[in-house]
Amino acid sequence: MSLSNWTANVRRNGGFWRDGRWYDLHLERRMPLALPMLEELRDALPPLPPGTGVCDLACGTGNGAVTVLSAYPEVHITLVDEDPDLLSIAREKADALTLDAEPLQASIEADGEPIPGGPYDVVVASLALHAIVGHDIERAEAESRYDLLFRSIADRLAPGGHCFVGDHVGTLPLFAQLKAMERAGFRDVDCAWRQDDFFVAGGRVGE
Ligand SMILES: C[S@@+](CC[C@H](N)C(=O)[O-])C[C@H]1O[C@@H](n2cnc3c(N)ncnc32)[C@H](O)[C@@H]1O
Repeated sequence: MSLSNWTANVRRNGGFWRDGRWYDLHLERRMPLALPMLEELRDALPPLPPGTGVCDLACGTGNGAVTVLSAYPEVHITLVDEDPDLLSIAREKADALTLDAEPLQASIEADGEPIPGGPYDVVVASLALHAIVGHDIERAEAESRYDLLFRSIADRLAPGGHCFVGDHVGTLPLFAQLKAMERAGFRDVDCAWRQDDFFVAGGRVGE
């Protein structure tokens, strides 16, 4: 067994973010606003009746799904991520809360193609969109990728479906993300919460 060198843990900005168990252990300490962000995302949701189709997009270890299921355990949750190891942790966590979780391994391209699965009544994307769009890209490129990604989400929402984004503004400022949602066809777009660089925003598609 060859272990990773522990010193990544004691380097500035270090760590093992791609390891799901490590990620869950360290998220709160290293990114203290991530947990309040998830609570604010949960509280921004309208009441979700049993059977509501919810997608946790780029679910990682399933923290968005667990947040939704803790409040509304009778929804049907679809877990989407490209990483099979993270997806299996998400499945394990969701299965502790519901018999109705469906994992879907898929790589999302910010190319305007509808996201897989669905149609969904709700898409939640927690610390997800910036990861799909990519870090360290020019503002204009980021804006165009967000436009396409929001269109991909909108196209897989059922009439009246909602999208909730909890993220930080590392890739694109919040106002620009809200405008991208509007350009993709979302209405009632607004910010529910913001603290420092973290935020929760939402919008819905037409009936
Ligand atoms: C920072 S993690 C967030 C995970 C989780 N949503 C949370 O709130 O803890 C970003 C996730 O996006 C996934 N991801 C990144 N790019 C992706 C893509 N193009 N398609 C699907 N998943 C992607 C990664 O595998 C990772 O699980």
